[in-house]
Amino acid sequence: MAEQRTGRITGTGSCVPDLCITNERLSEVVDTSDAWIYSRTGIHRRRIAADETVADLAAEAAKSAMEKAKILPEEIDLLLVATCSGEMLFPGTACQVQARIGAVRAAAFDMNAACSGFLFALGTAWAYLKSGLYEKILVIGAEKLSRLLDWGDRSTCVLFGDGAGAVVLEADGKGIMGMVQHADGNKGQVLTCPEGHETAGSSNPFLRKTERIPNISSLEMEGQEVFKFAVKQVPRCIEEVLAQTGTAKEEIRYYILHQANSRILSGAAKRLQEPEGKFPMNMEEYGNTSAASIPLLLDELNREGKLQRGDKLVLSGFGAGLTWGALLLEW
Ligand code: UT7
Repeated sequence: MAEQRTGRITGTGSCVPDLCITNERLSEVVDTSDAWIYSRTGIHRRRIAADETVADLAAEAAKSAMEKAKILPEEIDLLLVATCSGEMLFPGTACQVQARIGAVRAAAFDMNAACSGFLFALGTAWAYLKSGLYEKILVIGAEKLSRLLDWGDRSTCVLFGDGAGAVVLEADGKGIMGMVQHADGNKGQVLTCPEGHETAGSSNPFLRKTERIPNISSLEMEGQEVFKFAVKQVPRCIEEVLAQTGTAKEEIRYYILHQANSRILSGAAKRLQEPEGKFPMNMEEYGNTSAASIPLLLDELNREGKLQRGDKLVLSGFGAGLTWGALLLEW
C-alpha cells in the first residue's frame, strides 16, 4: 500500500535578541522580585529586542533551520510566520523574511493565533503538504511582545520575552500524525491587546469619538482565568490527539508545550498522570515568547541531541483568542 503523504520536520533553528534582562534588573523598573516571579512562573530571565525587529529574529531562525535541513532558500514553496507583534501591518513579517533570506519562489503570509500561532501555522503547513500543493514549507514563530507590554504593569511585564524559532517541514511518508485545534471567542476578553495605529485612526474625520482607536496599545490579562483555562484545556486536547491517532501516553517521548508558566506545565503533567520530566521547559531563560516558544524549545532539544528519529512528540499551544490545540508527530 502506498504510504500516506504527511509532513516531517527536517530542520530547526532559533534566534533570540542579545539583551538579557534578569528578574533583579526588572525589579528596578517595577515593584517585583526574583522570588515572586520565579515561584509563580519559573522565569529567571528573558531576552528583549532592543535593536532587533521581529523580521530580523525570524530571518535568522529561518536561515539556521534551512541550514540544518540542508535546503536552499529557492527550494521553499511556502513561508508562514506566526506572530502577533510584527512591527508592520503590511508588508507582513513573512514577506519581509522572504526578501531577506531569498526564498524567491515562496508564497508568504502571516498568521495570528497569539501564543497558539506556531502550532496553528504548523497545522496549516501540514494541510498544504497533505493536499500535495507544496513540498517544502518554512514555518516560523517570531515575537517581540516587549512592544506590546505596559512596562508599568508588574502583573504582565515580567512574564514575556522576545525571540523566534523556525522549522522546515517537508513532504514525507512519516512525520505529523494528527492534530486538534480549538477556539473560544466568547472568552476572548481575558487576554487582549488593541491595535494601536492611533495616528492614522484619529485623522479619520468619519470616526465617532467612542470608536476612536486607543492611544496606547498594551497587553491586558486576567492571569488566573488564563491559568485555569490552560490547565483544563491543554490536557484535554492532548488526550484528544492521542485518541485521534490511537497513541498511548507511554509512547510519547516529550510533551513540548507553550512555555507560559512552569506551574501550568506541572498542572498539565499531573492531570495527564505523566512524569514532569517528559515536559521540557526553558521559560527560565526566555520567559513567555508567545508563538516563538514551541519552536525555540524544539530547536534547543534538537541541538542538544535529545530528539531521536522515531521519537513521538506532542506539541501543544494555548493563548489569546482563546485558542488552543495539540499536534502529534514522529521525529
Ligand atoms: O501565553 C499566554 C498565556 N498566559 C498565561 O498562561 C498566564 C497564565 N497566568 C499566570 O501565569 C498567573 O496567573 C500569573 C503568573 C500571571 C499571576 O500569578 P497568580 O498566582 O495568579 O497571581 P495573582 O495575579 O493572583 O496576584 C497575586 C498577588 C497580587 O497581590 P495581592 O492582591 O495578593 O496583594 C498581585 O498584585 O501578587 C501581586 N503581583 C505581583 N507581586 C510581585 C502581581 N504581579 C506581581 C509581580 N511581583 N510581578
